[in-house]
Amino acid sequence: MSQFDYIKDIAKYGLENDREKLLASLNELIEHSKNTKKLNLAIQLQSILKDSIRQEQNKHLVKVGSPHHLQRINDIETDDLILEKITSDYTLENIIGDNIIKSELSFFIQEHASSELLRKYELPIANKVFLHGPSGCGKTLASYVIAGELQKMMIVVNLGAIVSSKLGETSKNLAKIFKKASSEDCIIFIDEFDSLGKIRDYSQDHGEMKRVVNTILQLFDYLPQSSMLIAASNQIDMIDSALLRRFDVNLKFNLPNEEQILALIKLTLKNGKYRFDKPNELSRVVKDSLGLSYYSIQKTIITAIKRSLFESQGKKTRSISIVIQTQLWSELINAEKEALRSSL
Ligand SMILES: Nc1ncnc2c1ncn2[C@@H]1O[C@H](COP(=O)(O)OP(=O)(O)O)[C@@H](O)[C@H]1O
Ligand SMILES: [Mg+2]
Repeated sequence: MSQFDYIKDIAKYGLENDREKLLASLNELIEHSKNTKKLNLAIQLQSILKDSIRQEQNKHLVKVGSPHHLQRINDIETDDLILEKITSDYTLENIIGDNIIKSELSFFIQEHASSELLRKYELPIANKVFLHGPSGCGKTLASYVIAGELQKMMIVVNLGAIVSSKLGETSKNLAKIFKKASSEDCIIFIDEFDSLGKIRDYSQDHGEMKRVVNTILQLFDYLPQSSMLIAASNQIDMIDSALLRRFDVNLKFNLPNEEQILALIKLTLKNGKYRFDKPNELSRVVKDSLGLSYYSIQKTIITAIKRSLFESQGKKTRSISIVIQTQLWSELINAEKEALRSSL
């Protein structure tokens, strides 16, 4: 991509208020500027980005004078590196997957919930989990489920920000974050774990990649058993195998099969005030949806519900439940598949 392509993307996502994509494009432009030796531009863009992230975080600033205030001051060092701090109410009920995913997640959660027991027998507690598989299949969701089930705070790390910093800084940044997580006894969630692989591309110094991998391996060793690391990626082959081996649990997420698609519909329509107008055709549309992610399918269902709702407005109906037009959903599924095909 050229500089102009990035600028076009930035304009588009800015106007669409798609902050996530906007930030991603901006980060790409920063990388691109570095690579094409437009360092001034790169630095200026980076500082705009950092200011904006800081402002965003200050919105959640705690009251001055409260005990949290002091904590907050200590936070400033790591602030740029953290995307968000969250707590979650998700449970295992909120995620659909094959038996392996379900049972591995529940064992992993149980290990932490029963950590006292394991400690009594001096058994190690698994605390590093790697989630991989196609986008939109529940990796981020799984991290929320773990945080929710254990009622632990989760620090979501901005790996893009860490990796695009100066040579040698990546390791330092990672160390800061791990130190913070250890002291706060929380979960670190590193999304797009594969972006560490980017170091290989932009750095002339191939030693940097090795240094970062070694740092992570060391940090893994020092991570206290009460803290936890969750890493996610949809490009597992970009990740150093030495790193992969050090995770206690490695979970592969897959695209949903028919049974899982039906479960997803049920989960999405959980309060039950919906039904399909042509239930007989449902299984055909479900078959058509194969190949799409949970996320895409859920999106089309929600759109179908909304549009069916709009159309039913003004018509006289006795029932309070929304009747979803099966054909409409089918069309949305096909459009989604078409979009997927043309993006390949
Ligand atoms: N396995 C799943 N079970 C239930 N809902 C899912 C699942 N995977 C994705 N979703 C839905 O799609 C959304 C986005 O999924 P996400 O976990 O962010 O995907 P990923 O991190 O794998 O790209 C979720 O918030 C959820 O609404
Ligand atoms: Mg994700």
